[in-house]
Amino acid sequence: MTARPDVLRGTTIVGTGMYVPERRLTNQDLEKIVETSDEWIVERTGIRARHMAAPEQASSDLALIACQRALEMAKVDAKDVDQVILATTTPDRILPSCACTLQKKLGATGSAAYDMFAACTGFIFGTGMARGLISGGMADTVLVVGVETLTRIVDYTDRNTCVLFGDGAGAAVFQACEVGKGIHAVDMHSDGELGEVLEVPAGISRNPATEATVAAREHFIRMQGKKLFPFAVRSMEDATRKCVERAGWSPEDVDLFIPHQANLRIIEGVRERLGLPADKVYVNIDRYGNTSSASIPIALDEVVRSGRVKLGDKLAFAAFGGGATWGASSLTWTLPTWTGAPSASAVAAAQGAHA
Ligand code: ACO
Repeated sequence: MTARPDVLRGTTIVGTGMYVPERRLTNQDLEKIVETSDEWIVERTGIRARHMAAPEQASSDLALIACQRALEMAKVDAKDVDQVILATTTPDRILPSCACTLQKKLGATGSAAYDMFAACTGFIFGTGMARGLISGGMADTVLVVGVETLTRIVDYTDRNTCVLFGDGAGAAVFQACEVGKGIHAVDMHSDGELGEVLEVPAGISRNPATEATVAAREHFIRMQGKKLFPFAVRSMEDATRKCVERAGWSPEDVDLFIPHQANLRIIEGVRERLGLPADKVYVNIDRYGNTSSASIPIALDEVVRSGRVKLGDKLAFAAFGGGATWGASSLTWTLPTWTGAPSASAVAAAQGAHA
């Protein structure tokens, strides 16, 4: 019996884009809001600042800019996108979907557009979906965007959570490529048993909005951070190892590892377990905090536009999030080194500035 090929055609990333709102909320700003300190936040999380959407900005507005930038890099017209997968925990509204709102703004008139709720693992799950759709011949061009306006569901009276999260969007355009190039593996997992570790208790069918739910602040994120911590480290390590093996690599072959940016200590834990040197692990949590589904595509766009990623580089990505969800992916970069203007954030990243 001949072995069945893993995929019918390969899938790769042909463009990336990101956007964060202008307003920055620094640790010093938070010191004025809750009982916390810059020292505690930096030591326990690695975060120095995060961005916050302007009152008139909703998730689709952030996603729009990231998607336009990704499509421009890919030289793809929005009308030629077959599917728009929008990963988020903070859609503009429940109905219509955030993806449909984005589709209208983007002019992606030929696409099927839908939201995906996988919390911080959203971009990895989106990568898996894009690969399945393209390799199976259901789509030629898939736009995946991770976007969050988490500051809208963060309780600024709860110091356990309000220091962690930020707003932003990151997008990638996926298209077909030769089998064996581009994406090698995507690993996706969920465990509903861990659902209550990170939740927004009220607002939809389980506990509809009432005056009482608003008074009890049940529309904001609640998190048992200590329980998530070891799970995050273990799950990201396991999923990364699987995807690296499926690519035929060892961890030390990876040129750049882009983990979800939830906590610098979690990133360090995964890095140590994988045996990677610090210069192979991308970190920007100091500037953005945890932007959930947007964190990996924001980081990817930064490394692409700063020229840090080159044709043929071996990349690995990993994330974990509420649900619980977790996963990873491995891919060989198929685009030439970016020679266009770096984004402002890529310049800041290259200079090590906390901008
Ligand atoms: N400033 C000062 N003190 C604080 C703050 C703060 N902002 N937050 C908590 N503390 C206090 C606590 O009250 C506690 O005080 P106590 O000992 O008197 O009770 C003390 O600091 C230690 O708290 P811990 O919870 O033990 O702190 P820890 O070192 O575990 O760090 C953190 C907390 C940062 C939340 C960590 O557990 C973590 O990062 N967990 C993972 C969370 C995560 O990644 N969540 C995102 C999931 S992704 C998604 O899907 C959105």
